[in-house]
Amino acid sequence: MESKKYYITTPIYYASGKLHIGNTYTTVVADALARFKRMQGYDVMFLTGTDEHGQKIEGKAKEAGLTPKEYVDRMVADIKKLWSLYNISNDRFIRTTDDYHERAVQKIFKKLYDKGDIYKGKYEGWYCKPCEAFWTDTQVKDGVCPDCGRKVEWAQEEAYFFRISKYADRLLDYYEKHPDFIQPQSRMNEMINNFIKPGLEDTCVSRTSFTWGVPVDFDPKHVVYVWIDALSNYITALGYGSDDESDFKKYWPADIHLVGKEIVRFHTIIWPALLMALDIPLPKKVFGHGWLLLGGDKMSKSKGNIIDPVILRNRYGVDAVRYFLLREIPFGSDGNFSTEALINRTNSDLANDLGNLVSRTVAMIEKYFGGTLPDIFEHHDIDDELAEMAVQTGSLVETNMDNLQISQALAEIWKFVSRTNKYIDENMPWVLAKDPSKQARLATVLRNLSESIRIISIYIEPFMPDTAVEIRKRIGANPVMSWSESKNFHALPKGFKVTNGKPLFPRLDLEKELDALEALKEKSNAEEKKKEEPEGVAQITIDDFAKVDLRVAKVTACEKVEKSDKLLKLQLKVGSENRQVVSGIAKWYKPEDLIGKKIILVYNLKPAKLRGVESQGMILAADTSDGAAKVIFVDDSVEDGSKLR
Ligand code: ME8
Ligand code: MG
Repeated sequence: MESKKYYITTPIYYASGKLHIGNTYTTVVADALARFKRMQGYDVMFLTGTDEHGQKIEGKAKEAGLTPKEYVDRMVADIKKLWSLYNISNDRFIRTTDDYHERAVQKIFKKLYDKGDIYKGKYEGWYCKPCEAFWTDTQVKDGVCPDCGRKVEWAQEEAYFFRISKYADRLLDYYEKHPDFIQPQSRMNEMINNFIKPGLEDTCVSRTSFTWGVPVDFDPKHVVYVWIDALSNYITALGYGSDDESDFKKYWPADIHLVGKEIVRFHTIIWPALLMALDIPLPKKVFGHGWLLLGGDKMSKSKGNIIDPVILRNRYGVDAVRYFLLREIPFGSDGNFSTEALINRTNSDLANDLGNLVSRTVAMIEKYFGGTLPDIFEHHDIDDELAEMAVQTGSLVETNMDNLQISQALAEIWKFVSRTNKYIDENMPWVLAKDPSKQARLATVLRNLSESIRIISIYIEPFMPDTAVEIRKRIGANPVMSWSESKNFHALPKGFKVTNGKPLFPRLDLEKELDALEALKEKSNAEEKKKEEPEGVAQITIDDFAKVDLRVAKVTACEKVEKSDKLLKLQLKVGSENRQVVSGIAKWYKPEDLIGKKIILVYNLKPAKLRGVESQGMILAADTSDGAAKVIFVDDSVEDGSKLR
């Protein structure tokens, strides 16, 4: 029988900083799906990789005193290390700086240009540098990026455009004929109503404002701009556009692109349109999962509210963290990350339910039979119920996995774990053990428990691969098992030998763990800072600092800037001089909170207009960890006009 193929991808990760547990989530989910399919006998191609070009990375490298390539090499090494810590079983890792990828991207670009689907024009818009995104007038509010909330600037440049407008009808038609293409369903409606129906604008696909990218070979002052470079990784990784397209022929179209919800749009509009333009079949499914939130906000590098996946992994073990991510968040929805929840789940589901089941069973086989069950049997009806549920659970897991109901798949497995624990209580082996005439029944009960545990080990393997193997070792089963071996309840070899070990998941003390994690976080932050200092943050001399004129000023009047919910207009007295300053602190301060107070003013900042209001300088405030701003107030005894030094 020829095996069926399964091609699954994660997005390629920006090689622009450390990954957090939210990023890790996408790849852990993809890994569970890939492992599941492999166990079912599919020929799996699981791809992940890194997105390494662009202005932001160019800038970060410069800040760090490195060439862009040196910079991304470091980041990629960290990312690969992270995936290995999380037991990610990707078959391939693509870097957009790989030369086979760059060559293929150039070919793709040229092909689209020759076809007339790419043309030269001029791009104008609000540009957010950190996000590398242009925004339209309607998208930008208060002069800040709708994604990250930072300031945007008006920018203009010669650029190539992809004629995506041409594909709007074909996209709608495709969605209609393939109702499962975008999952969850609600995201499809969003794409249609928010993006396609209002009219698709041709997308900018080249840049001249930076050089860190794939050069357009027929017009080398342009580099290919993010989406053509990034999205095409899914086919260039298979050799598309190279001398050997055999993997492309074998694995394309992708069975599933797994992406976070903020990039669904690129994967379900730009990507399919590009593929249509290239006459390549479309992927079968794009699944947009939800976000991991921290304190209600999207966990993100730029906001700084992140949880370090390495710390968690090193303290709780890879499988506890994988289990938590996959079990806790209903796949598709946003979910709050909390260490309390991680610890509680580890205690209840892993230490209590699963861990105890294995250790009790193994301990009883050792105690009553020296580690090997004799070949004596006494069957009771209740055993059939256990055996049936063991096998049926497998079908439920399959259905849920095929529908990407990942946390539900785990919930089904844990129902069976509970059922098996209950079987111990129902049969009370410790009572049987006291009665020499019940030896056969005792052996049968313990055998049934061992078989259940063996089957559970198969079910959990996609999610917790190490634990699955460890459990099989303890119950004397074959360490490698295919999914189909869960269909047979009586499969352990004659005379299998169990061996106990230390608890699979030790119980955790919540209070202690929260303190320990806090300490670990501080330690790692300090190390991180240290690492950055020598080549990281640029140092300045005392002369540089002297260029900034800071003065104490008194707020004499203050009011909200009309039609803005962010800005306050302050009148300041700076010695004998009066100044007007606009400040983006209206969210956190009412005018009356400020009037009469003394603050610090950047006195020699070039005046600017904010929302048409003149601002002569800037007042100092501190960023708080929750993203708010706190104005720095000065003791009233300091005279206004005083210069800081
Ligand atoms: O978007 N919760 O890369 P990336 C859950 N290079 N998932 C999260 C998350 C959170 N808080 N934060 C990030 C890119 N992610 C592009 C992709 S593909 C052709 C190019 C997920 O490094 C995010 O949704 O910003 C995405 O799936 C992955 O992390 C990488 O994001
Ligand atoms: Mg992102």
